[in-house]
Amino acid sequence: FGRQIRILDVVTSTQDEVRTMAEQGAPEGTLVIAEQQTSGRGRMGRNWVSPLGKGIWMSLLLRPPVPLPLTPQLTLLAAVALSRAIARIIPELSIGIKWPNDLLVGGRKISGILLESAAEDERLRYIVAGLGISVNLDEKDYPDELLPKAISLKMASGREVNRSDLIASVLEEFEGLYDLYLEQGFAPIRSLWEARSVTLGHVTQLNTPQGSVTGIPRGLDEMGGLRVELADGSWRTIYSAEIRDEAA
Ligand code: BTN
Repeated sequence: FGRQIRILDVVTSTQDEVRTMAEQGAPEGTLVIAEQQTSGRGRMGRNWVSPLGKGIWMSLLLRPPVPLPLTPQLTLLAAVALSRAIARIIPELSIGIKWPNDLLVGGRKISGILLESAAEDERLRYIVAGLGISVNLDEKDYPDELLPKAISLKMASGREVNRSDLIASVLEEFEGLYDLYLEQGFAPIRSLWEARSVTLGHVTQLNTPQGSVTGIPRGLDEMGGLRVELADGSWRTIYSAEIRDEAA
């Protein structure tokens, strides 16, 4: 990964840059890194704070030979890759994964992942994996309402973190896990994800497109869905939902 890298100053979103390159036939592993995003985007149509020079705002092009319904597995893989990459650089930090792919330190979000895929006739064409890590942001870089829920690596560790070292670590971890996934399938990724999850074992409210579900997430299924045990002893597998903050 990252053999084709484009480093840009200011973009709307690195997702848009990589999407354009993907449409023009760019190879898997193409990476765009920006110093600043003016319309950084998050999951669920939210905005992503991406101030100049303070974070890692980047998007990676993937062309995995997997069926479209398995793309959520790559979302989970990305979360494992980022958490391992950060742990290598700042070993003292305890990072948990909130399903599906938020990285938390002390309950506050330090990194977010957004996978956008392009498909044609039910077939996956490519995935743009957007990786955002709040590296050296200070409290003043966040809007007030975000501060209780967000934190940067610098705020959490008390020191500035070298972004180039972290980018190298992310690419190495991501490529290693991606190769493992292509060789052995989802099973090893699933175990790694479960071991780092802070979602499993706690009563959680999940807002799904079909309505709200409250139960205890117990693990992932082989597709990457979240297996939730409900109060009446029945089970539900959730593929898309948002976890209510209070219950996270
Ligand atoms: C989320 O947690 O909601 C996902 C946030 C993803 C942010 C990254 S930053 C690089 C890439 N470009 C974007 O516009 N978003 C992703």
